[in-house]
Amino acid sequence: MRVSQALCRWIKAHVGLLITEKNIDSVALACQSLANELAMSVADLEQVVLSSSPDLVRLQAPAELTQASLLDLFIDRITTHEAYFLRHEENMRLVARSFAHDCINKRGCFRVLSLPCAAGEEPYSIAISLVEALGKFDTNIEIIASDIDSNVLETAALGVYHESRIQTLSTSMKKRFFHRGTGSNAGFVRVVPELRKMVKFKQINLLDSKWPVELPVNVIFCRNVMIYFNREMQEALLTRMVSLLPKDGLYIAGHSENFSYFSHVVTPVGKTTYRPA
Ligand SMILES: C[S@@+](CC[C@H](N)C(=O)[O-])C[C@H]1O[C@@H](n2cnc3c(N)ncnc32)[C@H](O)[C@@H]1O
Repeated sequence: MRVSQALCRWIKAHVGLLITEKNIDSVALACQSLANELAMSVADLEQVVLSSSPDLVRLQAPAELTQASLLDLFIDRITTHEAYFLRHEENMRLVARSFAHDCINKRGCFRVLSLPCAAGEEPYSIAISLVEALGKFDTNIEIIASDIDSNVLETAALGVYHESRIQTLSTSMKKRFFHRGTGSNAGFVRVVPELRKMVKFKQINLLDSKWPVELPVNVIFCRNVMIYFNREMQEALLTRMVSLLPKDGLYIAGHSENFSYFSHVVTPVGKTTYRPA
C-alpha cells in the first residue's frame, strides 16, 4: 500500500509528522490496520481524513463527533503504530493514587474493568500502576479484562509480548514486572505470575444482554471501542456501564472519545475521566 502525497502533506500540516522513507511503511501499515478495523477501504479512510481539519472537526455539532473520533484514532495510530505498556498512563496513575487505597481501606477490595482489553497491554498496565502506587502485589485488587475476540484474549492471558512493547518502562519496572525470554524466546518478555494473577480474562461481547461481571466495579476503562457504535448504541452502552459503578466510581474513556453530550449519564471530571451523573 502507498501513502499518497496529499495524505503526507495533511499529516505534516496537522500532526507535524514528516513522512520520510524511514517511516512511510509504518504509516501505511497503521492506515491499513485502522481501515481493516473499521471495515472501510484505505481510500475511504484517506477521504475522511483529507476532508477534515482537527480544529474544525472539534468545533462541529455532536452529530459529527464520530468523524472527530475517527480522526483522533487515525492520529493516535500513525503516531504510535501499536499498543504498548503504560500508554496514556496518566489515567492509570490517577486511579491508582487517588482511589485504590481509599477503596481497599473502606470496602476491602478494588475492582477494575478493562473493556475491551485487546491483547492485554491495558489491563496489565493498570495492574502495574496499582502495584507501583500501593507498593505491593495486592490480592484485594481484581482487574476483569474482556474482549469479544477469543484470539486476543488467549494472547493476553499468556502475557508474552515483543520487548518493544515495554520500551517506555523504566529499567526497574521492566525487572519487576517482566521475565526476559532466552534462547528461542529472545526478544520477548513475559508478564510475571504475580501480575498475571491480578488480571482475569473473560470473553464479553458488549452487545450481549448479560455480562459476567461481579459487583461492585470501582473503575471502568472503556477505551477506543465506542467508535464502532452509533450514537444511540453509545448512549445505551455508556448507561449500562455506568449502572455498574457506585456514585464515586470512575469511567475512563479513550483520548478520541468525548461523552460531554451524554451529560444525563456522566459528568466529566477530567479530559477523559467521568463520574456517574
Ligand atoms: C482498538 S482496541 C481497544 C483496546 C484497548 N481498550 C486500548 O485502548 O488499547 C478495540 C477492541 O474492541 C474489541 N471489540 C470490538 N467490538 C466489540 C464488542 N462488540 N464487544 C467487545 N469487544 C469488542 C476488538 O476485538 C478490539 O480488541
